[in-house]
Amino acid sequence: MSALRHDTVLQQEIRLWKEKRNAVILAHNYELPEIQDIADVLGDSLALARAAAKTDADVIVFCGVHFMAETAAILNPEKTVLLPDLEAGCSLADSINVEQLKAWKAEHPGAVVVSYVNTSAGVKAESDYCCTSSNAVQVVHSIPVDQEILFLPDMFLGSYVQRVTGRENMHIWMGECHVHAGITPTDVNSVAREYPDADLLIHPECGCSTSSMYMLADGLLPQDKTHLLSTGGMLNYAKASSANTFIVATETGILHQMEKANPGKKFIAANPHAVCPFMKKITLHNVLEALQEMNHVIEVPSEIRARAKTPIDRMIAIGS
Ligand code: 13P
Ligand code: SF4
Repeated sequence: MSALRHDTVLQQEIRLWKEKRNAVILAHNYELPEIQDIADVLGDSLALARAAAKTDADVIVFCGVHFMAETAAILNPEKTVLLPDLEAGCSLADSINVEQLKAWKAEHPGAVVVSYVNTSAGVKAESDYCCTSSNAVQVVHSIPVDQEILFLPDMFLGSYVQRVTGRENMHIWMGECHVHAGITPTDVNSVAREYPDADLLIHPECGCSTSSMYMLADGLLPQDKTHLLSTGGMLNYAKASSANTFIVATETGILHQMEKANPGKKFIAANPHAVCPFMKKITLHNVLEALQEMNHVIEVPSEIRARAKTPIDRMIAIGS
């Protein structure tokens, strides 16, 4: 059987089991193309958290990484949340643990903690607000200007938010995502030189984001063609824009959706090696198996869940 035919058979099986279980499939924009194609909801972290909060399905199959499935479980204690491969972790979420956060809070008593959604449930339980790349600026704007903030764990997103909001009383944890950090200013500059007419879409977690902001401010990158956006923001921008060519500085999984939604437009990865090995752990095989066996259930202890829900609810409520 050809690989394509094999995928089609698996996808049909998944749809049957989805009906049987009254399940919904939520998938992140970085998932494998064949996973994106079976998703009921495909989106960025904020869109998926919002979808998880309002689904009436009994089972949520989370095609993403562990912290995303945990967030869905925190929002839905009465539903079953499945993560088809429990090894789907996140190097950024691993860059801070509960003990480190407690020690950091002790150094800054009274500071408000803003955690990126890419954190464990335990870290969220120690936080005041969560945010994603699409609402981080609005979340920080919503906090009184004289309030000290601890922002974690991504240093590139933190620098971006600090620059946009002008907050000097914001301390930033020095964590990073190894995939996004690997998209460097050199990558972006060399692709931008090759495609001088292209629009440049940059995820704020990228290693190139800080230097891009300085280059933008200095006029070295075109203001009207350079945009720092979440993955969902990139997809919306590409659809609405009249440009034909886009340089995309984020994980390459997003190109599948960009190309699918915009026939005739050209999308170039700023770094074609920017592939998240955790996102690619989810396959049609393990999605089907999870539905059949109802295995790989994500559960969050009730005491952590109760404390982690408030910052997540605040995140869901803020921003568009
Ligand atoms: P968004 O899809 O929210 O932009 O997040 C990117 C990411 O790296 C998720 O792990
Ligand atoms: Fe984590 Fe980076 Fe993978 Fe996103 S791309 S899941 S931040 S390791």
